[in-house]
Amino acid sequence: MQQPFSRSEFEAENRELREQLACLQRLLKLQERERQQISHEIHDGFVQYVVAAQMSLESLQAKLKADNSTVPKELNQVHEWMERGLAEARQLIDELGPTFIDQRSLVEAVEFLIGEEERRGLQVSLRCASEIGRLDPMLEQAVLRIIQESLANVRRHARVDRAQIRLSKCDERLRILVRDNGLGFAVGKYPRECFGLRGIDERAKLFSGEARVLSRPGHGTVVDVELPLVCNLSDA
Ligand SMILES: Nc1ncnc2c1ncn2[C@@H]1O[C@H](COP(=O)(O)OP(=O)(O)OP(=O)(O)O)[C@@H](O)[C@H]1O
Ligand SMILES: [Mg+2]
Repeated sequence: MQQPFSRSEFEAENRELREQLACLQRLLKLQERERQQISHEIHDGFVQYVVAAQMSLESLQAKLKADNSTVPKELNQVHEWMERGLAEARQLIDELGPTFIDQRSLVEAVEFLIGEEERRGLQVSLRCASEIGRLDPMLEQAVLRIIQESLANVRRHARVDRAQIRLSKCDERLRILVRDNGLGFAVGKYPRECFGLRGIDERAKLFSGEARVLSRPGHGTVVDVELPLVCNLSDA
């Protein structure tokens, strides 16, 4: 028969778990801070250079017009590519930036994300099947990043202009469903350069939860994530 844990063993185990949790907290904070630094660098570096180049191009186009010279159509094309590059960079800045969870409730922060997606043309409905209330801040941050990535995927890949989010609490677990009726895809191995779904899966595992992606070509996609409400540290 196995010996029961002695009190000192139990305390040592407990201490170790608390240390691991504190370490995880620091790592997640660091990750958020790094995301913000990258976002500032794209904004202050890349975006400013492209804006300056675009302004020079515009003044060259104006000069050519004033001299009654024809403006080569390649120049217009270059201008358009710059415009697209800038739009993508600005979107990246938004996505990498803070989720402002400190100042809002989880549901308000989700509504904020939805507002950002709506500005980009995706209509999102939110249904909370139960009162959500405040959760552990790390868990709230994870929930927001999961929803953010799922919505970004709908906007980028599903070729629809609508998505639904459903949040519910049951048996001390939070369930997040993000659904679209778009293109769908064959779930399986993703190319090495795809980080989004892998990130959702890893975040869920980190909190001792589970993420499933249900999709089939032509039948839309559901991202279904369940997370224990008690912030459990997983050794996965
Ligand atoms: N809602 C969706 N509808 C259709 N296809 C999707 C959807 N979500 C994911 N996919 C498919 O799954 C692939 C993997 O998604 P994933 O989020 O991991 O990577 P990504 O979006 O391509 O790149 P990123 O690393 O920037 O997230 C996508 O390239 C896309 O083909
Ligand atoms: Mg993605």
